Amino acid sequence: MARNELLQKGVNRIEWAKTHMKVLGKVRERFVKEKTFEGLKVGMALHTEAKTAVLALTIQEAGAEVRLTSCNPLSTDDSVAYALNKEYGLETYAKKGQTNKDYYKSLNKVLDIGPDYVIDDGADLIFMLHTKRKELLGKVKGANEETTTGVMRLRAMAQEGALKFPVMSVNDAYMKYLFDNRYGTGQSTMDGIMSATNLVIAGKTFVVAGYGWCGRGIAMRAKGMGADVVVCEVDSIRAIEAKLDGFAVMPMRQAAMEADIIVSATGCKDVITAEDIKVMKDGCVLANSGHFDNEISKAALGKMSRRHKKVRESVEEYRLRNGRKVYLLADGRLVNLAAGQGHPVEIMDMSFAIQALCLEYLDFSAQTLEPDVYDVPDHLDDTVARIKLETMGIRIDRLSKGQQDYVRSWREGT
Ligand code: ADE
Repeated sequence: MARNELLQKGVNRIEWAKTHMKVLGKVRERFVKEKTFEGLKVGMALHTEAKTAVLALTIQEAGAEVRLTSCNPLSTDDSVAYALNKEYGLETYAKKGQTNKDYYKSLNKVLDIGPDYVIDDGADLIFMLHTKRKELLGKVKGANEETTTGVMRLRAMAQEGALKFPVMSVNDAYMKYLFDNRYGTGQSTMDGIMSATNLVIAGKTFVVAGYGWCGRGIAMRAKGMGADVVVCEVDSIRAIEAKLDGFAVMPMRQAAMEADIIVSATGCKDVITAEDIKVMKDGCVLANSGHFDNEISKAALGKMSRRHKKVRESVEEYRLRNGRKVYLLADGRLVNLAAGQGHPVEIMDMSFAIQALCLEYLDFSAQTLEPDVYDVPDHLDDTVARIKLETMGIRIDRLSKGQQDYVRSWREGT
């Protein structure tokens, strides 16, 4: 694509997202007026696409110097990265299809800014600060973490006493996981699978590994599109929940025999292994919606195949030695971003409004916070929820004084 076409595409995508991100828009209005982040340096590693651009530009317009790169080598929208550099004056190093070496080089360039704050998705930036870039640790006042996998890593670091600054667990904000992890991942995963394959969902046996908020969303949307949905879980309570939500529940080995499509969304490794691949039907489609590309064993697929080749933009066909074919989408990386456009705009609007407000909260309170992982305060969730309702034109009831007293009292019964 010609450079000017790429630029226009990126600008259009960013402006489209900005138009529809009304919650973040309200937050931005105040931030710009108050110059909330004046003089700060903020390093960001988030999936570099249009909605992320709107968040980065919000922080920049609020007075910060910002550098951005992607948190995954396949999740960049190159038109957006190009437009950020050329049109919006925001240094961005992301590029779709980066090698691992270039991916880490880009993370390093973000850190070269000497950040006061870091916004991370998957904790790679934070991990680098604690290992290869320790010389910068002293300046960093805190960080936000966007995703389940990152929070898991950071809680493990905090438990060992290895974490050196406070981190806000944006992922665990109610307004984040309820909508982003469930409705966002639900819709964008289906979008990624359908864009990659152009195959019908209705009538397929669709296996979802993991029934956390992401898995719940994927299962719900696959069911809504007419698939027979099977859930695989390791947690006994979630397994019952999946069953009562109307899904078949079984171990992966059994599900793999029946599956037309398998999606992994666990945040854990080795979810789909050689033993599972061995029993798959001819033509089974494999996709991952978890943060890292270690949920589906690509090594096993490689070893078990006579050959493999790209058969569509984001589809690799593996010809197994047993004569069957298996299709891997997006190289086992986040299918919703690598083969789709990420979560819908209005969903990321809420998540990124939380991100922006958490950064403000962190800058206000970082000096009083010990190094640890912190939950997002309820009032920030409530602020985002109220702005969202307002932008949707929805009014809700309020408790009367009598009702407020009633819910707080233990004396009054019926
Ligand atoms: N777009 C930007 N960040 C994203 C995320 N974490 N998940 C899905 N889409 C996104």
